[in-house]
Amino acid sequence: MQKCIEPTCGLEYPISDIRIECDRGHLLDIKYKTTPSTSLKDVFYKRRNHSNNIFNESGVWRFRELLNFCQIDNENFEECSKYLVSLDGSEGRLSKPYHMSKVSDYVGLKNLWLQPEGYNPSGSFKDNGMSTAVTHAKLVNIKKIICASTGNTSASAAMYAANENIECDVYIPAGEVAPGKLSQAFQFGAQVIEIKGNFDDALSVSLQKANEVGGYTVNSVNPFRIEGQKTIVFRALEYLDWNPPDWIVYPGGALGNTSSCGKSLIELYQWKWIKKIPRIAVVNSEGANTLYTLYNGKFEDTKLRWNKGKPDVEIIKRYYTYMDKNGIKPKTKATAIQIAKPANILKGLRALEFTNGVVTQVSDQEMMDGMALVGLNGFDCEMASGAVPAGVKKLIAEEIIKKDDVVVGILTGRQKDASISVDYHKNPQNKFANPPRT
Ligand code: F0G
Repeated sequence: MQKCIEPTCGLEYPISDIRIECDRGHLLDIKYKTTPSTSLKDVFYKRRNHSNNIFNESGVWRFRELLNFCQIDNENFEECSKYLVSLDGSEGRLSKPYHMSKVSDYVGLKNLWLQPEGYNPSGSFKDNGMSTAVTHAKLVNIKKIICASTGNTSASAAMYAANENIECDVYIPAGEVAPGKLSQAFQFGAQVIEIKGNFDDALSVSLQKANEVGGYTVNSVNPFRIEGQKTIVFRALEYLDWNPPDWIVYPGGALGNTSSCGKSLIELYQWKWIKKIPRIAVVNSEGANTLYTLYNGKFEDTKLRWNKGKPDVEIIKRYYTYMDKNGIKPKTKATAIQIAKPANILKGLRALEFTNGVVTQVSDQEMMDGMALVGLNGFDCEMASGAVPAGVKKLIAEEIIKKDDVVVGILTGRQKDASISVDYHKNPQNKFANPPRT
């Protein structure tokens, strides 16, 4: 019942009543008829709490046998687990495919699943791979980790470093990082080094510094990052009873995600865990579209391919020189993927070849509409993740994705620049604007 908190009054009302006070104007409490048995303590603790082991709670480490570079032996788990890095079992715990009806309706696809990786402890998919990279750093006794970042990598690296008491240096393009991401690096005690230039410049400085000072690089060029990010695919497939979808869709930046998706599918196929190979679709921003350009033959009329391990690396070099000479810089409001020289391009090509993948591109406006649409389902994502619904819509319009295909899209990160969504909604010209009233 609802009951007045005033002892001398004590008026009672049924649960079905809608009220905020009793008839005499006092506040109300909710009162229960039954006294819960103390035996429930056990039920909560034992049965509803993933067997009290943070590594079983973690959406990364519960798949530990499939990324067992620490040679964890479950018989001797206590001893082996001392190297495992986890933020209290929270990485990957809340992310699995979810059916967002409004996004589905808008893109015109019944079987669309979106996986909100923004619901990781640092707010992006990076935690999947950072927990494993920092595990390796611990295994080899590293005291300082280093990365370049458009913001999310640095937030994740700084978070795990703080929790593990390891030093962390982050190199970021000055003025090009969302405030929420920058604030995390500061908060978690990392040393922030601002670089005049873009992410590609910051990465080359950070790699050089890592060599000089003996720091351990945790960007996605680190192969242990890729191992952890495989669990994004494991969670998606597990949810679908290991029946692979037709497509897995990612935004494309440095292509760590594309690489890890490819590696996980190659392995699962070799192990005969799956019979069908989903196709990967990578969605570039129009303003940072190196993979789109090279993969689709928009430069020198040649379609760049992995080519069974013999890719034409010279064309990549020529394209980078061409960009440098002509002052072509990556430019998009989706700063997370404002990257012109994807460090994992070769692994990305390998993934695309194995999965018969495609690469498309979308505009800033399309990404913002995608971001707003995800919001209409009660989920939060950043603009770079909005590339996923936008890319799916485009690929359906081009009849590359068919209307009855099963598609899993990865929403890579949470909104960490509130001004992007606030400005979007205040402008009634925008497709999904939700402007305020006075
Ligand atoms: N989405 C978000 C939210 C990202 O932060 C990034 C990359 C990507 C997509 C692209 O993923 O590199 O695997 O292709 N952010 C990096 C960073 C570069 O420094 O935080 P990718």
